[in-house]
Amino acid sequence: MTTMPATHPITGTITAPLVAPSILSADFAALGDDCRAVVEAGADLLHLDVMDGHFVPNVTMGPALCRSLHHCLPEVFLDVHLMVTNPMMYVQPFADAGAGHITFHIEADEDPGEVIDCIRAAGCTAGIAVNPPTEWQSIEPWIEAVDMVLVMSVNPGFSGQAFIDSVLAKTRAIAPRLRDDQRLQMDGGVNLGSVEACREAGCDLLVAASAIFGSDDFAGSISALRGA
Ligand code: DX5
Ligand code: ZN
Repeated sequence: MTTMPATHPITGTITAPLVAPSILSADFAALGDDCRAVVEAGADLLHLDVMDGHFVPNVTMGPALCRSLHHCLPEVFLDVHLMVTNPMMYVQPFADAGAGHITFHIEADEDPGEVIDCIRAAGCTAGIAVNPPTEWQSIEPWIEAVDMVLVMSVNPGFSGQAFIDSVLAKTRAIAPRLRDDQRLQMDGGVNLGSVEACREAGCDLLVAASAIFGSDDFAGSISALRGA
């Protein structure tokens, strides 16, 4: 049996960092089983990396996969990370497919305020992401309006890349600007070597693909990332 979160995983009160396995490193031929296993091992939510082959040089998953996962594990919160050029095109399809939260990139060619409104109108919480080369000031006008800021710690496109240490300064600048009901997510190269620096910089939602699905002890990996 998978467990239902007691509070909203993004906006609820938390007492320890949340851990979100990115299913990008799961076995796609056994996706339901892999996802159930990480949830039973203590994952707080599942992170879906959506890539369109244009914003990033890779193609991954669409709303159909999200819908199947939602039907398979209806009580599990799905965090959709849109690495796409036109986020507005994908908000409603993912919301209809069971997404609970949707993050888009400030670097995408859209009006951020319009995308945030669209995500909320679709019934999801909203996040804004910044790529490693992007200054945190680019998202400053939108910080108050979102439920989560995602700091990318690799250039998006693939799992298994090395953590880019220079994003920690940006993370430290953003952290004090967030309210208690907002999350600061780190995504990319988060593993046992980098996670302490992420937590110290103020991240309270840690995404990991290879560090979890590449391990043979999901529960041990998740609790180590959490800092338990
Ligand atoms: C990167 C994705 C990440 C990625 C993380 O483009 O947004 O979520 O899957 O993979 P790891 O944890 O292996 O760096
Ligand atoms: Zn991601």
